[in-house]
Amino acid sequence: MKSSYSQYTVPMTSERLSYRRFKQEDIPALQRIVSNPITMRYVSNGKPWPPKRTEAFVKWNMEHSDDIAYAICRRDGDELIGAMMLAIYDYEPNFLLGKWVITIFISMREQGKGYGKEAVLYLLSIHRDKEIFASIEPSNTGSRRLFESAGFEKVGTLHYKKGPSDVFRYAARDGIIDGHR
Ligand SMILES: CC(C)(COP(=O)(O)OP(=O)(O)OC[C@H]1O[C@@H](n2cnc3c(N)ncnc32)[C@H](O)[C@@H]1OP(=O)(O)O)[C@@H](O)C(=O)NCCC(=O)NCCS
Repeated sequence: MKSSYSQYTVPMTSERLSYRRFKQEDIPALQRIVSNPITMRYVSNGKPWPPKRTEAFVKWNMEHSDDIAYAICRRDGDELIGAMMLAIYDYEPNFLLGKWVITIFISMREQGKGYGKEAVLYLLSIHRDKEIFASIEPSNTGSRRLFESAGFEKVGTLHYKKGPSDVFRYAARDGIIDGHR
């Protein structure tokens, strides 16, 4: 499926943040963020990323646009403060298979300033044609609060080897999917 990622020449901004594709020069700043075990506790396998993984992530995202990864930057200074991904779930054969799932992380020192919510609301605003889910471990209070506050509702729980994960679905625009209000 083609995405708005291909229209990346248009500046993508919200009040305090800008969003763009990753570039090679982001690797050191991204590595500082993803090497923090607390930040990464609930992201993918729950472990901090070694430099090789960070490099592979940036390279992959520079080459592919089917799944969508956004570098989240502060508008003042273009400082990288996090990333969000909107990807088609292909991990295990459960009810999320083939659905769009959002993942986000914000640098430890920039958390709690409203950036996560601003970024998620922006992503929702530019992907109005998609049904969007988030998968959140029950102990991840910050993420649950963020997604609930952005308009997501819990629709179920998946049970993985590493433990349960609650599935949230963006429900605030029920009835207006496909742009039909
Ligand atoms: C989850 C995360 C993205 C939230 O980003 P953030 O910028 O810190 O969140 P915000 O400041 O935008 O807060 C959004 C809402 O969630 C609430 N919130 C955020 N963190 C919270 C916490 N730890 N405990 C309780 N509430 C929290 C805020 O109060 C705010 O509520 P409001 O909209 O009612 O005012 C960030 O904490 C993070 O990167 N965590 C580590 C990675 C992670 O867990 N990612 C999610 C994987 S699905």
